[in-house]
Order: sequence, then structure tokens, then C-alpha cells
Amino acid sequence: MSLLSIQSLNIRFRSPDEGDVEAVRNVSLQLHPGETLAVVGESGAGKSQLFHAVMGLLPRNARASGSVLFNGVELLNQPARVLNQYRGKRMAMIFQDPMTALNPLLTIGRQLTEVLEVHQRMGAKPARDKAIAMLEQVRISDAARRFNSYPHELSGGMRQRVMIAMALLCEPELLIADEPTTALDVTVQSEIMALLRDIRSQRDMAVVLVTHDLPLAGGLCDRVAVMYRGEIVEHGQVDAIFYRPQHTYTQNLLSASSFAYACAAQQK
Ligand SMILES: Nc1ncnc2c1ncn2[C@@H]1O[C@H](COP(=O)(O)OP(=O)(O)OP(=O)(O)O)[C@@H](O)[C@H]1O
Ligand SMILES: [Mg+2]
Repeated sequence: MSLLSIQSLNIRFRSPDEGDVEAVRNVSLQLHPGETLAVVGESGAGKSQLFHAVMGLLPRNARASGSVLFNGVELLNQPARVLNQYRGKRMAMIFQDPMTALNPLLTIGRQLTEVLEVHQRMGAKPARDKAIAMLEQVRISDAARRFNSYPHELSGGMRQRVMIAMALLCEPELLIADEPTTALDVTVQSEIMALLRDIRSQRDMAVVLVTHDLPLAGGLCDRVAVMYRGEIVEHGQVDAIFYRPQHTYTQNLLSASSFAYACAAQQK
């Protein structure tokens, strides 16, 4: 059975100024346990909203139809009571902007332990130990001290590592990483991608990488789905898409980054 099965998903936004906007149109995707899928596409293509729908985190003015099955259970348009059995536990998302996803008023330690105390009913001491171990795993040096830092005291790369640690705390079967490196400089970007690759090889975890960067996708993922204006216009194994792109948008994207892909593929 698929771990994640998205069927004919549509997302429509009500906008008083522009009328209705169809942000996602008739998207179907399957993901098996342990698989890696990249979803690539230009800004505004609908990538983030697609996975916000999976997590049950669409804004109030959005309406979704279709189906999102996680291990065969329908998640689309379900109440928080149902969704909370899955999100943060069996599926987790690294959000596009760590600064808005982290609470600026709480130490990162507090934010990490809260996840364990709420979802896994852990006591304070084991939660602290596990949170520090997780910070070490995402290669934050001096983790016990960093545990007491506030988000603004950390660099962008470190904040992104904290987001990854938070997503991995409950050992999810599915990790959705939405542009995890966009705001980072190139060196930190490749460190974070190497970290994601390592984590993937250590755990049997399916990963969806959302990005507009094809070489980055090729460095981590087996399959690629290309989104253009709300639709999946192309979908296949990474190599097939790279060497025989069918859609003009994919061809343009590739010609802009073919050199960089060659470098990424060597690192894989
Ligand atoms: N809160 C909102 N209200 C109305 N429309 C929205 C809202 N959020 C998103 N949209 C619409 O959904 C479309 C897709 O947005 P989405 O955030 O999924 O794009 P994306 O592919 O993730 O882009 P990016 O690469 O810039 O992150 C947007 O172009 C916009 O038309
Ligand atoms: Mg986005």
C-alpha cells in the first residue's frame, strides 16, 4: 500500500479582489514507504499549498477537494482531532521559512521538548535528553548550550537544523521538506542537503523535497514531479526527467541548471 496517496486534489482560494484562484489542479501523486520524491516548479506553482493540504494546514480562505490517503486513511478536510494523530508524529513538515515556523518567544529547547511531552507524553528529563541528542544528530555543536538559545540567537543555517531536528523528533514515516535551503548561502545549503541525505540513509523514511532547484532535487531524490501553474506537467525517475524532459518549462529549467546538476549528481 502507498504511504501517501494524493488523488485528484484541487485547491481553490477565495480572493475578494481577484475572484477565485485555482492554486492546485487535479494533482495525483503516490509515495511508497522509504521513497524520495522531489516536487519542483517555479514560484507560485502551488507546491507549498499542495503539502499544506496534506498536513491539514491550508489557510481559511482555501477549499480543497479530492483525496489524501495516509496509510489508507483519509486526511483531507478532517478535523484536528484526526489530523493530530498523524502530523508531527507519523508525518512532519519542515516549513519554507524557519523564522516564522519557530516561536520567537520560546527557547529552542522548550519548543523541542514540547513536541515530545505533548505527542509522546515523555517526562521533562527524557524529553530534554532526546532533544539534545537530536540537536547533536543535526550537527549543532555545543547542543546542550544551544538548547537554551532563542531562535534569533541562531544563524539561518542553525535555525534550519533546529527545524529538521523538530521534524525528526517523533521519527516520522514521511518528511516533507519545503524549500529547506532557499534562504541559505550556497555552502550552508550543501551542508543541509548532506545532512538530509545522511538522515535518509539512516532511517527508513519517505521524503518529499519541495524546491525550485532541479540540481538540488537530483542530489537527494529518486523521482521528480514538475508542477506548473497548479498542475503536474511531468513526472518520472530523476534520470528520465533530466535526460529526456518533455515539457517546455522543464526544458527551460534544465538548461538553466544543467551544469549544476552534473555537480550534484556526483555528490549523491
Ligand atoms: N493565502 C492565500 N490567499 C489566496 N491565494 C493564495 C494564498 N496562498 C497561496 N495562494 C495562491 O496559491 C498559489 C500557489 O502558492 P504556493 O505557496 O503553493 O506556491 P509555491 O509553488 O510554493 O511558490 P514558492 O516557490 O514561491 O514557495 C499562489 O500563486 C497564489 O495564487
Ligand atoms: Mg512555497
